[in-house]
Amino acid sequence: MNDIRSHLKALGQEHLLRFYDELDSTSQSRLIDQLKGLDYSVLDITDRQEQRGAFEPMGAMTLDQIEKNRPRLTEIGLDAIRKGEVGAVLLAGGQGSRLGSADPKGMFDIGINRRLYIFECLIGNLLEVTKKAGTFLPLFIMTSSQNDAQTREFLKAHDYFGYDGSHIHFFVQEQLPTVDVNGKLMLSAKDTVSCAPNGNGGWYISMRRSGLFKRIKNAKSLKWLNVFAVDNVLQRIADPCFVGAVISEGKSCGAKVVSKAAPDEKVGVLCLEDGKPSIVEYYEMTDEMKTLRDPDGSLSYRFGVILNYLFRIDELDKAFGVSLPLHRAFKQVSFIDENGELIRPEKPNAYKFETLVLDMVRLQSSCLAFEVEREREFAPVKNKTGIDSVESARALLQKNGVEL
Ligand code: UTP
Repeated sequence: MNDIRSHLKALGQEHLLRFYDELDSTSQSRLIDQLKGLDYSVLDITDRQEQRGAFEPMGAMTLDQIEKNRPRLTEIGLDAIRKGEVGAVLLAGGQGSRLGSADPKGMFDIGINRRLYIFECLIGNLLEVTKKAGTFLPLFIMTSSQNDAQTREFLKAHDYFGYDGSHIHFFVQEQLPTVDVNGKLMLSAKDTVSCAPNGNGGWYISMRRSGLFKRIKNAKSLKWLNVFAVDNVLQRIADPCFVGAVISEGKSCGAKVVSKAAPDEKVGVLCLEDGKPSIVEYYEMTDEMKTLRDPDGSLSYRFGVILNYLFRIDELDKAFGVSLPLHRAFKQVSFIDENGELIRPEKPNAYKFETLVLDMVRLQSSCLAFEVEREREFAPVKNKTGIDSVESARALLQKNGVEL
């Protein structure tokens, strides 16, 4: 106990023991155990920009090219699915703070006159593929310790929306402490330091550490993992044509991309960095990069990523253990104040620390940018209203013939 106290004092974080004396012995041990295992390195993370290499535009397999080859590519993808080589990984550990619902985002009902949960939408899309392939494929779902039980119960109660539950495997991502604007770690309860999910970049490490690969049947045949976000309700999962294209081009990973709507659009762009595939974030792009054009007039850096990637497992294993950069994000984080009152802020008040799946692309030897039509495949639900909102996603679902 004294060790911990002096360690916290040295870090200027002694306030975490503010309520220690009023806790019962079980809560005291819980707090001490947590303090011992905490990753204090987040205290050193600032908004410093990472040193990046030399960027160059990267081409894509375009809509036209895909259309010409669709039957052949689809057959290659379906064949891989039938051989059990493809799994899907649903990233559902986020807190969805911008949407403002306390439930996991996948439980959000996007319907208007009927009920249509986001999970239902996604699984419905995946079922189209499994029907074509004539087989289920493993669906791995990453949750966080905050939403794991609720997510599992919800999906089970809805009979996995028609998916075969024996092919669904959950794993829980890891956490990092949150830090307020004064550089102080926070308490979420008198005996608990506030932590948040450590970003979507930790999925492969968490999946490996969960032991799933050892436990599931047929894990040995798995070669590819299609990783995707929970919040794109038009998400095509394990899209056979995409899988087939990456295989037929001999690439070690693939990324679905959409053409940018405007030079200033706030989207990460697939490109080359020092000759290797990479993603440059919109805030890292110079004006010259944003407005650079090809001879045909189209933007040179135009292929925006939509958080739908295909990774080859052996390449992921090669890069296993390489640490990804930690980004800090300013978010709303509930906390216990000095009077022991729970405060639920209405505006961002603290930093969360996250690794991002997009940084994993830099660790791959090659990547196929696979262009998809934005209006058919990209309807993210991030905000309550406005851009990338419930409203805009509903409009896009309806445009695609989904009755709401
Ligand atoms: P976002 O970056 O939109 O984060 O996640 P979020 O936490 O869901 O939402 P906000 O920013 O608080 O409003 C993009 C995808 O990554 C997943 C999300 O569930 C979503 O599918 N994600 C994000 C995780 O799985 N874990 C995380 O720690 C963060």
